[in-house]
Amino acid sequence: MLVTGNDILIPAREGKYGVGAFNTNNMEITQAIIHTAERLRSPVIVQMSEGAIKYGGQDLANIVKDIAERATVPVALHLDHGSSYASALNAIKMGFTSVMIDASHHSFDENVAETRRVVEAAHAMGISVEAEIGRLGGVEEHVVVDEKDAFLTDPEEAVAFVDQTNVDYLAIAIGTSHGAYKGKGRPYIDQARIVKIGELLGIPLVAHGSSGVPAEITQRFRDSGGEIGEAVGIADEDLREACKHGIAKVNVDTDLRLASTVGIREILKASPKEFDPRKIFGPAREVMSQIIEHKMGVLGSVGKA
Ligand code: G3H
Ligand code: 13P
Ligand code: NA
Ligand code: ZN
Repeated sequence: MLVTGNDILIPAREGKYGVGAFNTNNMEITQAIIHTAERLRSPVIVQMSEGAIKYGGQDLANIVKDIAERATVPVALHLDHGSSYASALNAIKMGFTSVMIDASHHSFDENVAETRRVVEAAHAMGISVEAEIGRLGGVEEHVVVDEKDAFLTDPEEAVAFVDQTNVDYLAIAIGTSHGAYKGKGRPYIDQARIVKIGELLGIPLVAHGSSGVPAEITQRFRDSGGEIGEAVGIADEDLREACKHGIAKVNVDTDLRLASTVGIREILKASPKEFDPRKIFGPAREVMSQIIEHKMGVLGSVGKA
């Protein structure tokens, strides 16, 4: 069923597990996300960025909503990184049940003001809201605390922000970054900061940049002719730990991009004569499903719906 973000994330926060928020850009990605959730009895969030809305528009939003409504597990349709009040309201008009307003690159006061107006409008329509405070970006473990503090989320500021905005869930900067290159070795994530913020705030916390970029997938990408550098993601164990202390929404896009491309590359390489789209996108959907299943296991959402 199609539900709001709060319907999914409040129980996750209380139950100390995470729910995957997977980005979609087409039907096959959407099917992989929701059908895997159904098979594993897991709640799930399907999110569309402004780029996804530009690409798939109302057609794609309707596909998500239709599959979600027919699913027997809770599914939310979320706007990822909404850049303005207008963008958030447009998503609500399109039928989204959760929106992010990301004014984190503005000053604290401007972030508060912009988030507040989205929260007021969205709440009037029964829609839940995510906002962000701090700056995403990889940090090295050895970096001194002062430098980390410059862009990672300050716990006291997070409390003030939630007080002043009444936002439903909060994305915090803890050292993760978007994309396939999150650092070297095992990318650092600031667990102590999550614990601190989790103690001060009872609302669900959000981790962006949470793809695992599994070595097995990057190797298959290379083996099938793809070119990729020293790609590395967030370790499963680090995400599992984060979900015990308040992270409830875990954003994943890169892993599905890689998985779908691996599926397509492998079939095209193995069968140069193939041109039936179902034989090409079908395997891609299967590789994505395996990645999603693994992630849901790591986060602990399996069997929660
Ligand atoms: O955080 C960014 C997401 O991975 C979405 O990316 O804006 O290219 O759709 P996109
Ligand atoms: P990844 O690039 O790690 O998949 O993060 C996606 C994300 O945070 C979307 O908002
Ligand atoms: Na988001
Ligand atoms: Zn993000």
